[in-house]
Order: sequence, then C-alpha cells, then structure tokens
Amino acid sequence: EKGGFPHYMLKEIYEQPWVLENTLGGRLREEEGDVDLGLALDPREVERVHMVACGTAAYAGLYGKYLLEALARVPVEWDVASEYRYRDPVVDGKTLAIAISQSGETIDTLEGIREAKGKGARTLGVVNAKGSSLTREVDEVLYIHAGPEIGVASTKAYLAMLAAMALLAVRFGRARGTLSREAAQGLLREMRKLPRLVEEVLEQRPLVAHIAEKYHQAQDFLFLGRHVQTPTAYEGALKLKEISYIHAEAYPAGEMKHGPIALIDEHLPVVVLATRGPLYEKTLSNIQEVRARGGKVIAIATQGDEEIAKLAQDVLYVPEVHPLLAPIVSVVPLQLLAYEVAVLLGRDVDQPRNLAKSVTVE
Ligand code: M6R
Repeated sequence: EKGGFPHYMLKEIYEQPWVLENTLGGRLREEEGDVDLGLALDPREVERVHMVACGTAAYAGLYGKYLLEALARVPVEWDVASEYRYRDPVVDGKTLAIAISQSGETIDTLEGIREAKGKGARTLGVVNAKGSSLTREVDEVLYIHAGPEIGVASTKAYLAMLAAMALLAVRFGRARGTLSREAAQGLLREMRKLPRLVEEVLEQRPLVAHIAEKYHQAQDFLFLGRHVQTPTAYEGALKLKEISYIHAEAYPAGEMKHGPIALIDEHLPVVVLATRGPLYEKTLSNIQEVRARGGKVIAIATQGDEEIAKLAQDVLYVPEVHPLLAPIVSVVPLQLLAYEVAVLLGRDVDQPRNLAKSVTVE
C-alpha cells in the first residue's frame, strides 16, 4: 500500500505533482483570468480575514495572508488556533474566518472557528478530509483534494493547501478589482506549470540525500526566509523537528540580526530560502552575514542563479516560477531533506514519537 516506497511520507512527497493537478486542475480559467471555486461567498463583502489553523496548516494560512494581502488588498490576521480561540478576537459580520485543516478534526481549529462564528463571522473551511467535523461547522468548504494522508508529518496536504491559498487569492483579487485580468492570467499560467515543476524538484533527491549525509549529525538547524518564503522556513524547520528530532528554528531572515545571529558558528547549518523575488538581494546579504560568522549555508535558489553558488556551501535549485508561487516548489527539497536526515538517524519516519496524525484533544 506504500506503492513501492519505504515510507508513506516518501510516497506522499512523490504524489505531490498529481495532488497539485487535483487541487488546481479543474478550477483554473485562464481565458477569463479567474478561477472557479464554486463558492457562494462574495469577496467584496469581506472586510477582513482571520486565518485559523495549527501546525503545518497554520503555515499554509500564513502564506495565504501574504497572498491575499498582495493580490486582493484585504487585511488578514493570522494566529495559531490555540491562541485565536482564547484571545477574544475582534470579529464582526464582515469578517471571514478561514479554517485550514487536513483532517478537519483538530480540536483547536474547530473551537477557533466556533469562536468566530459565535461572534458573527462568515466561515470557510479549507479541508482535505471529506465529511470531517470541520466541513459541518463552516458555511462553505473549499476541498484541497490531496487524497488520504497517512504519514504523521504532513507533506502533500501542505502543497495542496498552498495551492488552495493561491486560488483563493486570485478569486478575491479578481472579485475585488485589485488584480487585473492580465496579471491573473499570468499567475494562472504559472500555476498550470506547477505539477511539472514539482516533478523536476523531485529529481533532485540524490543531491538532497548527499546534503543530508553532510549535515545529519548537527545538533541544531536554522531556517531563514522572507515574505512568502517565511512560512516555507517555518514548515522546513517543523518537518525536520518532527521526524528527525533535531532542534530547528525558523525566522524571517530580516529578524536574524535581532537575536538569532548569536547562535551562528561553524556547527550551525543555516537553510536559506533565497529564490528570486523582490527581496532577493536582502536575502543575499543575510547569507553573507551568516558566512562571515562561519555558519554553513544551504541555499534554496532559483535555477540558473550562479551567484549564489559562490556564497553558499550547498545549493538546491528549484525551477523558476512567479515569486509569489515559489514556496510551492521550494518546500519540496525541505521535505526531502527532513526525510533523508530522519532515515539516516534511524527514526520512525511515519510514526514519530509523541505525535498523533490529528490532535483531537486540547
Ligand atoms: O489535520 P490538521 O491539518 O488540522 O492538523 C494540524 C496539525 O496538527 C498538523 O499539521 C501537524 O502540525 C503535523 N504533524 C505537521 O506535519
């Protein structure tokens, strides 16, 4: 049932091109420069969005925040659900609460959405598991269609959630008049390419395995990214922690100077999301700062970027894509890195200690 793979996690990582096809395929309308999500919700009636989710799903929500703000100019608040449910959030009838969940059974996410609903918010669930509890709590559901996910460490559901966030942001941007038809068409063309691009990234597994071999004895890892790649850094660190039990921290790269830079020495591998985009040059200076302190840099960079190879010890290239979509290709080498490190350390990849696939108690 693992389709010839040694672990469900690896099987699910390799299913990602097909998953993206499923999430996006039937919904893209390139001609019109729009997407069809089959939702009754009118994005023009939404004045603010609250993202509510846990763990990996929360990082997908953080990506959604950057995207909705960039493309639809709607203010988005983002919290992990365990905070949201108890912080007495300011909500009204113009608030859209978006709950994101693979299982649809995460108790904090369910309670968060109940909290928002009780205060008059409209609610949308971005969910994988059909007919799960969350789908019955929300006004409307946007299914991510990732198929059953068995590995405790979420991989394919994350990619599908990111794709769902991109779909939502395009729909909102078009409906609210903040995204031109041409700009949307450009994004949709790029989205159409994603399954093939992820396929290309998967071919890099031998190189990832080589990097894992080099660094798997490290005690700690630091992950850095900016803007839409901030959630990628968080997710990369979470994957590594969950299945290898190596301590990993993630920071928005610009925050490094405000503390975490003190950690950097020759023993600390630093994974930097350095794909091309508006903040690329700033990220390069972060890499230089790490190198100046002896840190080892593993860069995730855009194919064809030669400059970065001179700065970083190791580079994993991902294909060029619209900068706002780069997280969808960039997280894949990080999933593989966590996987390869965990296997080298002899960990139980599919059933990591202390973790449950869905957290149904508080
Ligand atoms: O089923 P959900 O998406 O609501 O689950 C949320 C988190 O519990 C989940 O993403 C968790 O962080 C995973 N172990 C991540 O790999």
